[in-house]
Amino acid sequence: MTEPRIRITVDGQPLQVEPALPLLTALRALGFPIPGLCHHPRTGEQGRCSLCIVEVRDRDGWRAEHACLLRCEPGLTVRTVSPHIHQLRSWAARLLLARGPFNEPAVEVMLRAVLAAAEKGDNGGQYPDAALPPLSADGTDAATPAMPPGCILCGRCIGMCTGIGKNKLAFLGRGKRLRIGYVHGPSDTGACGTCHACRGVCPTGFIRSNGQAAFSARLYRRRGVPRNNGD
Ligand code: SF4
Ligand code: FES
Repeated sequence: MTEPRIRITVDGQPLQVEPALPLLTALRALGFPIPGLCHHPRTGEQGRCSLCIVEVRDRDGWRAEHACLLRCEPGLTVRTVSPHIHQLRSWAARLLLARGPFNEPAVEVMLRAVLAAAEKGDNGGQYPDAALPPLSADGTDAATPAMPPGCILCGRCIGMCTGIGKNKLAFLGRGKRLRIGYVHGPSDTGACGTCHACRGVCPTGFIRSNGQAAFSARLYRRRGVPRNNGD
């Protein structure tokens, strides 16, 4: 039996959707072009790339929300285009671009499209360029963590590794040193190196073979520090 549909309003249009569907999924199914890199049906909501920002109306006006973290509920009123949305998405896109180059060219195409859309949007002077995070001449952001390019820290690989019960991957460190690490511990079950599940959901192509190769060998093996050191 199909679930009864609920009414939401998007950009002024009344629409019907399945209740409790992630708003990002619903909007895309309805044909609204919402960018996003960290959401994947198999790895759950991450809310990490901030490209899917939309605005939701409440008693106090419009507030910015990640569409991937919101669920459809009756009466939800959403807008997908506004100067504020463009500005927030373009900030996110610039930070993500600073993590390139990416093995998967579609990532840069999407990020540049977000910037182009923001430029065309009507935000004339309301959010001055000076407020944007600075990019250096070589295209790397001043605040880029000390980690190899190509990973946007979206967390899909962790979501997949956890979802299939292997629990080999985790976020380690904080701030500039936030990174994905290959970990050992009591919740760590099964061998890494055979399933390649993380590779299948990585949007940027950073993982070429498996999590162990990508994160243990390339990223976090420091001279004098055991490979399985948690941080
Ligand atoms: S390795 Fe890929 S899936 Fe994992 S955080 Fe980086 S970009 Fe995302
Ligand atoms: S898709 Fe929503 S924050 Fe990345």
